[in-house]
Amino acid sequence: MPLTGGQRARARRSNLITPFQVMALLSRARELEAQGRSIVHMEIGEPDFNTPQPIIDAGIRALQAGKTHYTPAVGLAELREAIAQHYRDTHGVTLDPRRVLITPGASGALQLILGLLVDPGSEVVMADPGYPCNRNFVYLYEGVPVSVPVGPEHGYQLSAELLETCWSDKTSCVLIASPSNPTGTLVSQDVLRGLLRVVRAHGAALVVDEIYHGLTYAESPQTALAQGEDLFVINSFSKYFGMTGWRLGWLVAPQDCVEPLDTLAQNLFLAAPTPAQYAALAAFHPHTLEILAHRRDEFRKRRDFLLPALRQIGFEIPVEPQGAFYLYADCSRFTEDSFVFAHELLEQAGVAITPGIDFGRHRAAQHVRFSYTTSIEQLEQGVERIARFAGVA
Ligand SMILES: Cc1ncc(COP(=O)(O)O)c(C=O)c1O
Repeated sequence: MPLTGGQRARARRSNLITPFQVMALLSRARELEAQGRSIVHMEIGEPDFNTPQPIIDAGIRALQAGKTHYTPAVGLAELREAIAQHYRDTHGVTLDPRRVLITPGASGALQLILGLLVDPGSEVVMADPGYPCNRNFVYLYEGVPVSVPVGPEHGYQLSAELLETCWSDKTSCVLIASPSNPTGTLVSQDVLRGLLRVVRAHGAALVVDEIYHGLTYAESPQTALAQGEDLFVINSFSKYFGMTGWRLGWLVAPQDCVEPLDTLAQNLFLAAPTPAQYAALAAFHPHTLEILAHRRDEFRKRRDFLLPALRQIGFEIPVEPQGAFYLYADCSRFTEDSFVFAHELLEQAGVAITPGIDFGRHRAAQHVRFSYTTSIEQLEQGVERIARFAGVA
């Protein structure tokens, strides 16, 4: 007799891993669209722009030249060098390209680093709200995610003081993102220094996710790599470079961790996609960087439109987000349950947004995330619909 779902043995850890609520909203939105309804998409966490043409052309050339075999597990030497050069050009930080490992997205980088650092029972400290996969990766390695509630008073980021309050002898690692998903806020160099002081004093590791670097709208923030060679920095071609579907990212590791990370990479995924790696060599060409700078300007215009417009309607956004393409808004003026609010907004007004529950537990029912990964015209349409729905139009 074939086994049914109820009989099949499943690892306990797989039950701890939660789906994104926004996926259900997205598929409902697609269903409504198939019925002819117009939907404004403000839930999507990827740029609406396609990959810049020079990168696509380089990818096609690579495929035609037969670049379809495995690369070394740590990635193409040329790409590792190009990334090291990028840090030199953009941040004035010199680093040995051998410390750069190419991964299948930032997701691959997170899996490698946590695979290296997390034992069963190890605690990994992270901000709540934060990127939802982080706690799930920790579960995958049978670690314990320690989600620290952060609010506007902390710029929605961890600080040395907050770290001290939750530190235990099982803490192995601290994970931050700057700019953050879902709040778009940065960790200042001062706060970063404080975090590093605590982490170093305890002999633990700091992991800084800089996937939204490049997408910042005031000064360009310095990379955390400027603070020393003993921390892990994650980045990706997904967001700033517009390559989500190519599945390519990187990490910069302390020298002594490169070899064990290489071993893990060989076993976990052999290597990142080869055509994507060749394509990404064109990501740092001046023409591509020009295209990306225009796109960043467009994102800035969208933020500058959406932020005051949502505040005007009555959403509270107490800290101005300096980067990424998200606004994390307190919606408690309209609802006690942001999950219900997001569903009603979709059904009744045709606007898709992400409920706070996707980013943690801390005041999740009072928050929603708006993405400005769609045109200004669409955002205007969305704002008009939200205002009408909220009864303030
Ligand atoms: C903060 C953060 N880190 C990592 C990722 C993973 O990105 P990717 O695997 O596409 O590089 C995302 C994706 O949304 C993210 O928001």
